[in-house]
Amino acid sequence: MQRSILITGASSGIGAALARELAARGHRLALTARRLDRLQALAEELRAAHGVQVEVAALDVSQVEQVPAALKALATRLAGLDIVIANAGIAGSRRMGTGDIALDRRIMDTNYLGAVATLDAATTLFRQNGHGRLVGMSSIAAWLPLPGSGSYCASKAALTAYLDCARVELGKHGISVLAIHPGFIDTDIAADMRRYPFVISADKAAVSMADAILAESTQLIVPAWPWRWLVPVAGRLPRSWLARWF
Ligand SMILES: NC(=O)c1ccc[n+]([C@@H]2O[C@H](COP(=O)([O-])OP(=O)(O)OC[C@H]3O[C@@H](n4cnc5c(N)ncnc54)[C@H](OP(=O)(O)O)[C@@H]3O)[C@@H](O)[C@H]2O)c1
Repeated sequence: MQRSILITGASSGIGAALARELAARGHRLALTARRLDRLQALAEELRAAHGVQVEVAALDVSQVEQVPAALKALATRLAGLDIVIANAGIAGSRRMGTGDIALDRRIMDTNYLGAVATLDAATTLFRQNGHGRLVGMSSIAAWLPLPGSGSYCASKAALTAYLDCARVELGKHGISVLAIHPGFIDTDIAADMRRYPFVISADKAAVSMADAILAESTQLIVPAWPWRWLVPVAGRLPRSWLARWF
């Protein structure tokens, strides 16, 4: 069945790879990010390659008051939305004790409040239709304490908790919820990071993500190896091991 799917943060990395994978499977897309030129180029590529409808719009999700109108307009252009993927996010490394929390605020505004604004606006549309699927791009960082990434980890832990609550709250309204927890995926997000253990390409990750998005899965850890086994013991990993690795 062809679905209408909106992706935030589709101008690069995982969002762009997901757009390519979902278009190849024949789905209609609405793509948003701040870099409109990149979205337009991607949309042209996908229309030419797969003949699917692709709509684009510039949207900074941290400007939370702009999110509902943007989603509503894109839903109209696609004649409805079935799935909304809150993927937009930033990383950023900052050692504690510098006295400057501007980066921490930007991370929370984008990764947590931007995602909440996206999922909330989608819920408004889905409740009018009586169905819909919310997808949040969290991270294994929600469970893994990475030195220098306190606010990134906190933003993803908050998003994971929000998605868990949404799943319980919205099930009776016909709205399902998927939380995606990627491990390390080769994208631009953290070019300055020292190590990318068990890294996989965005294209490879997008195949597993698209499978979970289109099925009724509630959780996905990708790549599964080794994170599906390591994550449950993350709280007991030696701090010295984490400090050495990251
Ligand atoms: N790569 C990994 O290893 C990894 C692991 C776990 C989770 N994730 C999560 O996966 C998601 C995608 O990241 P990525 O790895 O694909 O990195 P990326 O290539 O840097 O992509 C990030 C995307 O988010 C968009 N974005 C950033 N700030 C935005 C804002 N304020 N408003 C709207 N869009 C914004 C960017 O577009 P513009 O700059 O054009 O706005 C871009 O399209 C993020 O939520 C990230 O936390 C990534």
